[in-house]
Amino acid sequence: MTERRTRREFLNDATGITAATLLGARAFGAVHIGGSDTIQVALVGCGSRGAGAAVNALSVKRGPVKLVAMSDVFEDKVKSSHEAITEALRESPDKALISGLDASPEKRFVGFDGYRHAMDCLRPGDVVILATPPAFRWVHFTYAIEKGLNVFMEKPICVDGPTGKRMLELAERSRQKDLKVAVGLMSRHSRAMQELAKRVQDGELGEIISQYGYRMQGSIATFRSPPKPDGVTDLEYQLRRFHSFLWASGGGFNDFFIHHIDHIGWMKGAWPVKAQGIGGRHYRSRDGVSYIDQNFDSYAVEYTYADGTKFMFDGRNIDGCQERFQSYMHGTKGSAIVSAYSDCGAPSRIYSRHDFSPQSLVWTSKVAPTESNPYQNEWEDFVGAIRDGQAYNEAKYGIEASLVCNMGRMSAHTGREITFQEMLDCRHEFAPDLEWLTLGSAAPLLAGADGRYPVPQPGILTDREY
Ligand SMILES: NC(=O)c1ccc[n+]([C@@H]2O[C@H](COP(=O)([O-])OP(=O)(O)OC[C@H]3O[C@@H](n4cnc5c(N)ncnc54)[C@H](O)[C@@H]3O)[C@@H](O)[C@H]2O)c1
Repeated sequence: MTERRTRREFLNDATGITAATLLGARAFGAVHIGGSDTIQVALVGCGSRGAGAAVNALSVKRGPVKLVAMSDVFEDKVKSSHEAITEALRESPDKALISGLDASPEKRFVGFDGYRHAMDCLRPGDVVILATPPAFRWVHFTYAIEKGLNVFMEKPICVDGPTGKRMLELAERSRQKDLKVAVGLMSRHSRAMQELAKRVQDGELGEIISQYGYRMQGSIATFRSPPKPDGVTDLEYQLRRFHSFLWASGGGFNDFFIHHIDHIGWMKGAWPVKAQGIGGRHYRSRDGVSYIDQNFDSYAVEYTYADGTKFMFDGRNIDGCQERFQSYMHGTKGSAIVSAYSDCGAPSRIYSRHDFSPQSLVWTSKVAPTESNPYQNEWEDFVGAIRDGQAYNEAKYGIEASLVCNMGRMSAHTGREITFQEMLDCRHEFAPDLEWLTLGSAAPLLAGADGRYPVPQPGILTDREY
């Protein structure tokens, strides 16, 4: 659970559960998986999004789907997640959904190796949800591929150059095995944005010449962290507050900004080739509390495409400032609002001029209520592909979007321009040997004698971020 969101709030929005989605007809698919029509699911990483994704999975129209195993490094998380899923299903209008929750106590695994036990409960062709902090994606993805599982993995999916390269190799391996791989970049499943992307592709905006994304907000989730309390290990502290630590999440930059960075690249039909970022941490202490995390609180990145056009991204996490959370773009023939609010909020709109005025409004997206939730849509599309035996693999663009985040963040953190290729070739792996981690291991990041963790030093440390 994030600091600013209750379980109820989460179940109402990020979970993607609405009465409309739960009421959808549940036509059973025809594809036979491992001798049964039931798709079995294991959840690895029992936090708020993991529980949400599990409920989305159990709610798909083309069931039956059953959640048969769960795993997390912490027992309390398995327990709270199981309770949250139970509550969401019990409260759903479709009372039959609760029968999909079949993770009996002996199939709820705790510890760093729990992911193996959870995946061992599945048959080839079943589905594993990877919803831990992103640092562990490559470890868990490797085992899922070995087991022949279809994978739903949450964004971001790599945090640095070496894990980006590793994930690209794994993506290729998963493609060769014809596994279905979904990545939680749900903008791509927003029906409004899909229609906008098609219109852009068809030339309605002409050439795209500039794009803008803004995620300017307060201190959400575990963006900032006070000193570690006694009695908790560094490792546990860093895992529970993963947005604060670059090795675990890629920082607030990757975790919060990736949706805009992804859908803006999608609209352009290209990824930026370089980034020039600036940023800083204005408040390292506030209201008497010192913060020891690694994030900057302000970032501004100029991304440049191969054709010379620009995407400007501003991100801020400071309480009390004016908030702004939307994305838009301008072309030679007009302009568009991509996300009206939040990560991918509809409606998307096209304008004949650049003023976003009602007089120049040309098109507003209209989406059927049953398809208005991108979190549910991504599961309908994923399970549909499994049922129909269609090729479906979002891993490559998910990795590239994550690398574009890394590139902007590294540029701000080092104080110099970073190219996409340089990011990919960067040899600083934040947390090597993660696959061997145990709860008794030293944390990948160690605090200094003053209890503070290393932070970026632009202009001083220029070939690595800390
Ligand atoms: N698509 C979206 O809009 C969206 C929204 C929220 C979160 N997310 C993503 O989902 C992921 C999880 O985020 P969250 O908000 O649910 O965080 P969370 O802290 O609520 O959940 C993460 C869980 O993973 C567990 N965990 C950590 N390391 C593990 C390991 N090695 N093995 C097993 N379990 C482990 C933690 O104990 C925790 O329970 C992140 O990548 C985040 O960016 C995506």
